[in-house]
Amino acid sequence: MVSKFQSTVAVVWPVAFLLQPAFSTEYITANSSTPLQNNEKCSCYVVNSGANSETPSYFQYHRFYDFRNLADRAGQYLRAPAVVDDWDAAPDLKVSQANILDSDAWNADWNIQTWSKNATEDFTLRMVNSPANIYLQQNNNSGNVGDASTYLTLRTTRGEDFQSVGEIENLQKNLMHVSMRMSARVIGDKGAVAGFFTFVDDDNESDIEILTNDPKDVIRYTNQPSADKDGNQIAAASQMKNKLPVWDEWQTHRIDWLDKDSYWYLNKDQVAASSYSVPRKPSYLVINMWSDGGSWSGNMTEGGSAEFQIQWIEMTFNTSGKVEGLTDPDPNSKRSVEHLGKRKEENCKVVCKIDDVKELGTPEIVSSSLAARVSLSWFAVVVVGLTSVCVGL
Ligand SMILES: *[C@@H]1O[C@H](CO)[C@@H](O)[C@H](O)[C@H]1NC(C)=O
Ligand SMILES: *[C@@H]1O[C@H](CO)[C@@H](O)[C@H](O)[C@H]1NC(C)=O
Ligand SMILES: *[C@@H]1O[C@H](CO)[C@@H](O)[C@H](O)[C@H]1NC(C)=O
Ligand SMILES: *[C@@H]1O[C@H](CO)[C@@H](O)[C@H](O)[C@H]1NC(C)=O
Ligand SMILES: *[C@@H]1O[C@H](CO)[C@@H](O)[C@H](O)[C@H]1NC(C)=O
Ligand SMILES: *[C@@H]1O[C@H](CO)[C@@H](O)[C@H](O)[C@H]1NC(C)=O
Repeated sequence: MVSKFQSTVAVVWPVAFLLQPAFSTEYITANSSTPLQNNEKCSCYVVNSGANSETPSYFQYHRFYDFRNLADRAGQYLRAPAVVDDWDAAPDLKVSQANILDSDAWNADWNIQTWSKNATEDFTLRMVNSPANIYLQQNNNSGNVGDASTYLTLRTTRGEDFQSVGEIENLQKNLMHVSMRMSARVIGDKGAVAGFFTFVDDDNESDIEILTNDPKDVIRYTNQPSADKDGNQIAAASQMKNKLPVWDEWQTHRIDWLDKDSYWYLNKDQVAASSYSVPRKPSYLVINMWSDGGSWSGNMTEGGSAEFQIQWIEMTFNTSGKVEGLTDPDPNSKRSVEHLGKRKEENCKVVCKIDDVKELGTPEIVSSSLAARVSLSWFAVVVVGLTSVCVGL
């Protein structure tokens, strides 16, 4: 299905692509002077959601992970890694593009998973996470200058008696409310689940899931738990929305995890909302592509495969405790406080927006028109913020 996809695009390399600068580690993280946050003037970020997208929420941190321009030449990332066909070897396989996916910049923010689980009566196929299922791909190619050239792929493939799957976790483990977005599409065979979600345990989890068994205009939006102790479905937990823009084309998917509500967006439109089991514990972003022969994913046909492809991920968030984390430090983490963008002060002095900006991923200082829309408790802060903006200008 990889080759099927690639053969559907034209062959001319756009000039813009050829002029792209060679890859550098700054692609994921700017250097420590500009820690991940592309506009260092911002001291907080506003996102509008809720009914009619009229309620502003404010967040302290911002991240933008861009996988669109990682090649330094045409044809560099055309070939997908070999299909994982050995259960025992799967967790130890190396990522094929270690220069990027095992770089310091990558490892500072992401962890590629290698866990596995056995089959059970309900989940009839054993599955194993393999680094070989996480890789960069490149269009072969478009001729369309506006089209992104590279993207991150998470793959799942069905072997004879197991499923190989892919999962990455973000290392910011103490998100406490987040607005997170990705530009993504899902292609391939039936029987897979592409997940983009916040997680800490099975009862504190907020999901976007694309099931390849579903029609292409259907997406599942869920706050866990979706089943009670006896295994019965909880009606309020999971919403299946249809007539959406198709998931096998690039769309922007978004979850707003707020204090009392969850909102889900597709492109500019709010497509679901829930106040059921809104997560209450510090969580982290997980992205995966999997199948286990259970009733949710279904069975993939032997030899089948499916891909979850991601152009970029953007998130603005608060943390529980310090941004560098209070507990459970990961000894492999290369995260420095500078890298994380520790705030000098708690106050929201300069309010920035991340939506409707000129350059995707680069927040912009908001106009004064926002002041009128801000609740009283924030009013003073915003006035101070806007004053300092005016002075700055
Ligand atoms: C980081 O960015 C600053 C400001 O742009 C620059 O002066 C510095 O040399 C950069 N450091 C590295 C290691 O690239
Ligand atoms: C984020 O933290 C700031 C500062 O504590 C707080 O005022 C704001 O309401 C928080 N936002 C969310 C969505 O939790
Ligand atoms: C890229 O496209 C060309 C022309 O369609 C084709 O010959 C070639 O096999 C493709 N490469 C890959 C790796 O799919
Ligand atoms: C799966 O089962 C095998 C024995 O059949 C056992 O050795 C292994 O530890 C189990 N793996 C997991 C992840 O539970
Ligand atoms: C979160 O986890 C706690 C247990 O640690 C649980 O009591 C709670 O129901 C979970 N879900 C929510 C939405 O709080
Ligand atoms: C998947 O296949 C297994 C074995 O053929 C079968 O027992 C199971 O019911 C299937 N699961 C689904 C969800 O169809």
